[in-house]
Amino acid sequence: MNRVHIKTYGCQMNERDSEAVAALLRARGYRIVPDENACDVMLLNTCSVRDAAEQKAIGKAGYAAQKKRRNPRFILGILGCMAQNRGAALLDALPDVDLIVGTQKFHQVPDHLDNLRAAQEAGAVLPTRIVDIGEEAGSQNTIRDHVLEDRQVTAFVSIQQGCNMDCAFCIVPKTRGDERSRPMDEIVRECEELADRGVREVTLLGQIVTSYGRRDYAHTGGVTPFVQLLERINALPGIRRIRFTSPHPRGFKDDLIQAYGRLEKLCEYVHLPLQSGSDRILKAMNRPYSRDRYRRIVADLRRARPDMYFSTDIIVGFPGETGEDFAQTRELFEEANYDMAYVFKYSLRTGTPAAEMADQVPDGVKEERNQILLRLLEQNSDRRNATLLGAVQEVLVEGPDKKGLGFMGRTRGNRIVHFAADARLLGELVPVKINRVSTAVLYGELALAGVES
Ligand code: SAH
Ligand code: F3S
Repeated sequence: MNRVHIKTYGCQMNERDSEAVAALLRARGYRIVPDENACDVMLLNTCSVRDAAEQKAIGKAGYAAQKKRRNPRFILGILGCMAQNRGAALLDALPDVDLIVGTQKFHQVPDHLDNLRAAQEAGAVLPTRIVDIGEEAGSQNTIRDHVLEDRQVTAFVSIQQGCNMDCAFCIVPKTRGDERSRPMDEIVRECEELADRGVREVTLLGQIVTSYGRRDYAHTGGVTPFVQLLERINALPGIRRIRFTSPHPRGFKDDLIQAYGRLEKLCEYVHLPLQSGSDRILKAMNRPYSRDRYRRIVADLRRARPDMYFSTDIIVGFPGETGEDFAQTRELFEEANYDMAYVFKYSLRTGTPAAEMADQVPDGVKEERNQILLRLLEQNSDRRNATLLGAVQEVLVEGPDKKGLGFMGRTRGNRIVHFAADARLLGELVPVKINRVSTAVLYGELALAGVES
C-alpha cells in the first residue's frame, strides 16, 4: 500500500533532495522501492533547466497516469523544479497528478501523502489534490537526512539552496528561489555523523557554493565563509576527501586558490562553469567575468596544483552567438584542456531574459557546435588517460563494480577506476597502478609499493 518509488531528473542537488525525502518517508513508515512497477506511490523529482528534462518527466507522468486508471488508489506526485516553475498549471496538462510540491517544501511530502491516503480512506468523492509551492523560511535546513546504502563511502551534503545571480538563460533563480545557506555548525556536524557511519568522501552541494554563508558569516583574515567551511571539514579525521559543486568563477579569489595548496583533502578536480568564451556573449548572459579573468583563474589553480583536473559547463547557441563567438569558446576550451565538460545546447526558458532576445540560433547550428566541443573533449580525455597509463593513483574504494571485475573507485581527479580488491578495503584510500585505459574509465591493479602520481 505504501511502497514509494522516487524518480529523479537533473542535477546532484535533485538527487540529494530525493534522498532526503526518502529518509523522511522511511521514518514515517513508507517503504522506498527501486522498481517503478512495484510501487503504489510514484514521485517524480523534476528538472527545469532545459526543455528536454521537462519533457522527460511529463512523458513519465503520462505513463504513470495509466497505472492510476487501473488502480484508483495509486498516487502520482511531481516534486521539485518543474513543480515550482509551473505550479498548479501542471494540473491542466496532467490531470492525473495528485500532488505538486515545490523546491522549498520537500519536507512536507510525508504529511501530504498521509493526507492524500486519509482522504482516500474516508472515501472522498472527488479526487483530492495538493499543491504546495510556497516559499518557506529556513527550508534549506530541511535537506539533512540521509539514506545510506550498506557500506556507502561517498555522500552529498547540501550546504545551500537557491541562487541570486540572474544569468540571462537560467531558470534556477526562479525554481530554487533566493540564495540561503545552512548554518556552518550543522553542516560540519552532518559531515561528522556521515564519517561515523563510514562515509569517507563528501561532495558539498549548492547552486553557487562559493557564495556560501556570505550574508551570515564574516570574512576572517580575507578568508570567505566557504573556505572556512572547507577548513573545518578538512579537519574532520574521518573524512578523507572533499569535493564541491557548483562554484562560480567569481568565487575563485586568493583564499580559495590557496586552499588548494594547503587543504590536503580538497581533491584537485574543479568544476568551473565557463558558459561561453566570448566576452560579448558572457556580457549578454550576465556572467560577471571576462575570458581573460577566467583564463587567469585556470592558470592560478594550475599553479596551486599542477595536476589539477578541470571540468566545465558550456552553452552553445545562446541567442546572438556568431561563428566568431563560438570560435572564441572553442579556443578557450582547447586552452583550458578540460578533462570533463557538460556541453548544452541553449534551451529557451520562458520567463528568463534570454527568451526575449533576438537572433535565436537555429538548432542545426547548435548541434554542430555541440559536436565540435564533444569531439575535443573526447580527445582531451584520451590524452589525459594516456598520461595515466602506468602511473600509480590514489583511489578511494567505493564498492563492487558492475562489470564483475571486482571493485570500483575514483582517483582524486575523479576518474573511475576498476580493479580487483578485497571487500575489507572498502572505504580505504589505496594505491592503484593503471594498466589499461578507455575514454571513460581506467583499469588497474593494487600497487603495494605506495602512491606516486
Ligand atoms: N550553478 C548551477 C547551475 C545550474 S544549471 C549548478 O549547480 O550547476 C547547470 C548548467 O545548465 C548551467 O551551468 C548551464 O551551463 C546549463 N544551463 C542552464 N540554463 C540553460 C539553458 N536555458 N539552456 C541550456 N543550458 C542551460
Ligand atoms: Fe543559474 Fe547562473 Fe545561478 S547558471 S544557478 S543563475 S549562477
